[in-house]
Amino acid sequence: MLSDKSFPVIEATLPLVGSRIGEITPKFYSRLFAAHPELLDGLFSRSNQRNGNQQQALAGSIAAFASHLVTNPGTLPETVLSRIAHRHASLGITEPQYQVVYEHLFAAIADDLALVITPEIAEAWTEVYWLMADALIKLEKGLYAAQANGKMWTPWKVAAKAPAGVGSMTFTLEPADDTPVTAALPGQYVSVKVTLPDGLRQVRQYSLSGDAGTSRSFTTKLDDGGEVSPVLHNNIQVGDVIEISNPYGEITLKEGDGPVVLASAGIGCTPTASILRSLAESGSDRQVLVLHAESNLDSWALRSQMTDDVERLDGADLQLWLEQPEAGSKTGFMSLREVDLPANASLYLCGPLPFMKNIRNEAINAGIPATKIHYEVFGPDIWLAS
Ligand SMILES: Cc1cc2nc3c(=O)[nH]c(=O)nc-3n(C[C@H](O)[C@H](O)[C@H](O)COP(=O)(O)OP(=O)(O)OC[C@H]3O[C@@H](n4cnc5c(N)ncnc54)[C@H](O)[C@@H]3O)c2cc1C
Ligand code: HEM
Repeated sequence: MLSDKSFPVIEATLPLVGSRIGEITPKFYSRLFAAHPELLDGLFSRSNQRNGNQQQALAGSIAAFASHLVTNPGTLPETVLSRIAHRHASLGITEPQYQVVYEHLFAAIADDLALVITPEIAEAWTEVYWLMADALIKLEKGLYAAQANGKMWTPWKVAAKAPAGVGSMTFTLEPADDTPVTAALPGQYVSVKVTLPDGLRQVRQYSLSGDAGTSRSFTTKLDDGGEVSPVLHNNIQVGDVIEISNPYGEITLKEGDGPVVLASAGIGCTPTASILRSLAESGSDRQVLVLHAESNLDSWALRSQMTDDVERLDGADLQLWLEQPEAGSKTGFMSLREVDLPANASLYLCGPLPFMKNIRNEAINAGIPATKIHYEVFGPDIWLAS
């Protein structure tokens, strides 16, 4: 909780700092990487730095955190913190790194707000930073402790690499050493580290797309302008060894017997397909509604896996939206207005941000409470900032 001394200072300066965070964060990152160039090798995404996404995510989370402290004193924004902690843990962030980030972030703040900053303002925002950092550090320690091993990265051999629809590829891995393997929950992801042609190492997250547990398979869509997916698609071959993290991610199937709605678009079907697989494997008698949107049938990455799993479940139904329609499909973009939603359903969502915003709004209008809507964002969560 914010101290009585800092509370009014944060309340008064939130609009100013909020309005400057877009300028402060690029200054922060250039200071950080000038002092620690090694952080771009195997930790931060070079593309996110270039396209500005990560700046937006950090800005969004700090502004959201500070305004939460002011508007909901005595509570923490658990959902925001949990998402960041899982992402951090999948990258192996350590406690001492928070001090490094603090130093460079606050140097950037002092620089940007040089004309107005007072020791009182700096002190109050330092308190906000450490409240957030301490909460994250605690969550991340808990996540690390729950793993079957204390390693950040373990080697896995590519046992199979198979095309999965046009432009996507499924990689199936097997352990390349005897490190104990953490059982993954359906819907979780791993971080994958590869070396780029210029020698720089880069990390990206990929949802486990098949069986959860101790299996590891993931499905990637090729992004021609990207750094990691072209290396995975074009360079990594069966028999190669790649490094992956333990599994993380909080968008996992919640216990219960109520209906489940899995809604995805494009490559966003990977976590929902894994949840569907776990329901099929356990012979679940829950009502399951699978909704998927795709540009055309050939692009649907996990088509046979998902249709097979729907077939295996008595209570499952599949509805498909295609921009280039086929017999039995609906036409164009997905809309829940065309769906008879089961009462008391939980919704799991994954796909591009505009798709998720639209489906989430429609779900709320249809009476699904926000607490029962779970979404995964395939990138820094700039939704947090909006
Ligand atoms: C939790 C999570 C789960 C995920 N699961 C999956 C999954 O199951 N399957 C999957 O395919 N993906 C998944 N992703 C996305 C994945 O992690 C990668 O983001 C994706 O593969 C693209 O990575 P890349 O390295 O190829 O592209 P990046 O190098 O990250 O580039 C991303 C985009 O930025 C653009 N860019 C780069 N530089 C600039 C610049 N200077 N200006 C403007 N734009 C620029 C590129 O053109 C590209 O389109 C997931 C992400 C998260 C966070
Ligand atoms: C209080 C301090 C911090 C805050 C508020 C914060 C916030 C965030 C947020 C919001 C994201 C995006 C999460 C998502 O939506 O998936 C993120 C990702 C990330 N964070 Fe942090 N973070 C903090 C500290 C750190 C530290 C100490 C490090 C390590 C030096 C770090 C490294 C990263 C990396 C590498 C990513 C992935 C994004 C990318 O590669 O571009 N963060 N952080």
